[in-house]
Amino acid sequence: MIKKIAVLTGGGDCPGLNAAIRAVVKKALQYNWIVYGIKNGWKGLIEGQIEPLTDYSVSGILPKGGTILGTSRTNPFKSEEDLQKLLDNIKKFGIDAIVAIGGEDTLGVAFKLHNVMGVPVVGIPKTIDNDLSGTDYTIGFDTAVSIVTDAIDRLHTTAESHHRVMVLEVMGRHAGWIATIAGIAGGADAILIPEKPFDIDEVVGFLEQRKKKGKTFSIIVVAEGAVPKDTKMLSVQDKEKDEFGHVRLGGIGNRLAKELEKRLGLETRVTVLGHVQRGGAPTAYDRVLATRCGIAAVEMIKQGDFGKMAALQGNKIVPIDLGQAVSKLKTVDMELYNIAEVFFGG
Ligand code: F6P
Repeated sequence: MIKKIAVLTGGGDCPGLNAAIRAVVKKALQYNWIVYGIKNGWKGLIEGQIEPLTDYSVSGILPKGGTILGTSRTNPFKSEEDLQKLLDNIKKFGIDAIVAIGGEDTLGVAFKLHNVMGVPVVGIPKTIDNDLSGTDYTIGFDTAVSIVTDAIDRLHTTAESHHRVMVLEVMGRHAGWIATIAGIAGGADAILIPEKPFDIDEVVGFLEQRKKKGKTFSIIVVAEGAVPKDTKMLSVQDKEKDEFGHVRLGGIGNRLAKELEKRLGLETRVTVLGHVQRGGAPTAYDRVLATRCGIAAVEMIKQGDFGKMAALQGNKIVPIDLGQAVSKLKTVDMELYNIAEVFFGG
């Protein structure tokens, strides 16, 4: 019988996390369960930063960005000592089940905890990158797309006035979902994504094509993880890696802009949108998705359906194996990218 559950948010934050926490807490309270909030992802479970959450704690958080629980990129499997502390705390606090709200790293840990250590865990998918398998959308993605679309619209008007090429660098280290969807929505003249190494000559060709048509400005959307075929132009990366082995990306936008300016002699400007894409209030879509996933996660616990993640498939939220969600990244659907390509250089 479930008496106490705990919820945590891990990895990069995103809009909609609070909506998910609220749904988990409210639904669990209906079952008269005690709900704990684990602070700062897996780090809080290692360090015992665990506090009760009440109806009052989640009151008013639905539209708020970020996460009231805090987050971290801590990987408990990096140290046996940490892993032991984490397991001890689960016992110490009498936690019967954990709801982990996260992306591939946080849910990768959840999967191992369940499969290897037998910890009763369920997952909720979040990441602005939308790159988790088994779910059509992840919480936070829709909000990021709407922020990027708005940025493209704003860049359009100033690009047109100054007859400039605008390069917009957006997040997406392994998958170019944000770039592709927001690029289509904003009418980008070229979209460069990690899934398809780009040919700089081809990009130059798009811009020349536009010039020939009498168009005096262009918008290029580039995902931070996009790579050129010509590796001499590789993105600038931090040498430092996080606990899951990811390097911090950034710099491809500037490299690209310099190269384009050199080759075309067109005035070029760069906007690196960065963490603006992860901040602020969630869209209505993300609030609803987060709420549905939160409720589904509690129902999964009620049914004893552990090792699962609440996934959106079509219009339904369904439990899928955590292993399926984290086994491989969900990269951009090339049919969608082909649609975007119709407008390149147009
Ligand atoms: O995983 C989500 C994400 O926003 C990526 O798109 C981005 O590369 C990364 O997090 C940035 O991480 P940090 O917040 O640690 O700079």
